Amino acid sequence: MLSVSNLSVQFGKRVLFDEVNTTFHSGNCYGIIGANGAGKSTFLKILAGKQDPTSGHVHLEPGKRMSVFEQDHSLYDEYPVLETVLRGNKPLFKIKSEIDALYADYTDENAEKIGELQVQFEEMNGWNAESDAAAMLSNLGIKEGVHYTYMKDLDGKQKVRVLIAQALFGNPDVLIMDEPTNDLDYETISWLENFLANYDNCVIVVSHDRHFLDAVCTHVSDIDFSKINHYSGNYTFWYESSQLAAKQRAQQNKKAEDKKKELEEFIRRFSANVAKSKQATSRKKMIEKLNVSDIKPSSRRYPAIIFERDRVAGDQILNIEGLSALLDGEVLFSGIDLNLSKGDKVVVYSRDSRATTAFYQIISGNEKADAGKFSWGVTTTQSYLPLDNSSFFENKLTLVDWLRQWATTEEEREEVYVRGFLGKMIFSGEEALKTANVLSGGEKVRCMLSRMMMIRANVLKLDEPTNHLDLESITAFNNSLKNFKGTVLFSTHDHEFAQTVATRVVELTPNGIIDRYTTFDEYMQNPKIKELRNKMYAVTTV
Ligand SMILES: Nc1ncnc2c1ncn2[C@@H]1O[C@H](COP(=O)(O)OP(=O)(O)OP(=O)(O)O)[C@@H](O)[C@H]1O
Ligand SMILES: [Mg+2]
Repeated sequence: MLSVSNLSVQFGKRVLFDEVNTTFHSGNCYGIIGANGAGKSTFLKILAGKQDPTSGHVHLEPGKRMSVFEQDHSLYDEYPVLETVLRGNKPLFKIKSEIDALYADYTDENAEKIGELQVQFEEMNGWNAESDAAAMLSNLGIKEGVHYTYMKDLDGKQKVRVLIAQALFGNPDVLIMDEPTNDLDYETISWLENFLANYDNCVIVVSHDRHFLDAVCTHVSDIDFSKINHYSGNYTFWYESSQLAAKQRAQQNKKAEDKKKELEEFIRRFSANVAKSKQATSRKKMIEKLNVSDIKPSSRRYPAIIFERDRVAGDQILNIEGLSALLDGEVLFSGIDLNLSKGDKVVVYSRDSRATTAFYQIISGNEKADAGKFSWGVTTTQSYLPLDNSSFFENKLTLVDWLRQWATTEEEREEVYVRGFLGKMIFSGEEALKTANVLSGGEKVRCMLSRMMMIRANVLKLDEPTNHLDLESITAFNNSLKNFKGTVLFSTHDHEFAQTVATRVVELTPNGIIDRYTTFDEYMQNPKIKELRNKMYAVTTV
């Protein structure tokens, strides 16, 4: 269906892919995994013809169509919602645009051309395109009222839903998706898991979300050592077997016979579990041929995330009174009163993710509140990981110079000092000299974390910190926040993160705040709070 031959990609001395030969077959769903910066997005761009490899070829079976869901969710910000979906079927959209342009400049000659194009348009079922696109949007919960709204005016999860509709529009033979679950809420992730598990065509999806991978993949394609290896089975199977492979490799003196037995036993147990699980009932009949023998132990490394504080904050951290935010007349939150205590680790939650993002932007002084006030304690110092970090990386500074921007003393400006923080986030040697604009999604977040470590603040504000990060980084990050002695305000769709870090839950609603010292799970499961939550969102007064 889709194959690559002798594919190599190199940036300077860094070899991402070396003579890769591989084929993706119809009916399978391939989960592409690999560390941040391994080359996943680059590989997808090459498959989609958006980037040229250093050498080698990509071959798509003639007559087949491929569509792509991008990692960058702001690419269509300047287009209306419905048009964004229509743009998903490129050949169709091109003809439609030509017809529209000819109509605008109507002459006899153009009328003839219009006629010819309309025949092609009809053959592609073009007349139904708009209503098909509208129906898809509605199925994804995007109401008709916003079909003509610009993409930039939607919140993160609505945007992702539209982009998913765009990728699926016209039933592509090969569907390529780069981190589709970033910015999505639990509900939409479940919907997507279900959809992909039942989609018959070829799916190639990059994800760092373990649960998602297990729900959708028939194969795991690991990018490591500049190669891509496909393994039949889901993520858990790949993970467990690569751990086993690493362990066996370390046991030099164990007999080959015993190792083989151990492998067989592992596969037998695993297959039995899969047969019992939900996965066996979906389109993936069974994990057909499990083969662990050629799994290599991975080369992934854990970053060292350690947040230290220049000084300990006093008792007064943050005081908020009557804070409200509107967006185009719609109330995001209002009447928020909050007093933060030293050492609080607060998960800031809202049903509308635009509300939490507006909250961080306001208390960071980047946007103005519509009502109310806030004041930070004089002994506090803050650092902020914003949801959208793109403005930090629109330059060609080397990473060393990039991070140096936040140095405050001569000592901090020294290259060794700056490199210390980059090294903790696994940018060492030449890697620390690449430019800010070429970084991968996860690498940008790693740089933002180096920056936060260097700022040594006693209050951290984190808006969706796990977006883009690989599993090794998420684990390291999660542990560092558990151990951090300062105050943390954070919002995340990562359940594990919310549950293990938060000591307090704060929910922003259009009718005030719900504020509880409790764990995230207890908060979500408490029936009284549930009732209260429904009430707080129900009546919106403007
Ligand atoms: N023009 C370039 N010059 C130098 N290095 C580059 C260039 N473009 C990309 N890179 C590097 O290539 C590597 C692969 O990037 P890519 O975006 O494919 O990673 P990824 O596997 O998708 O990572 P993530 O999980 O963070 O999204 C990164 O280390 C990136 O910095
Ligand atoms: Mg990527």
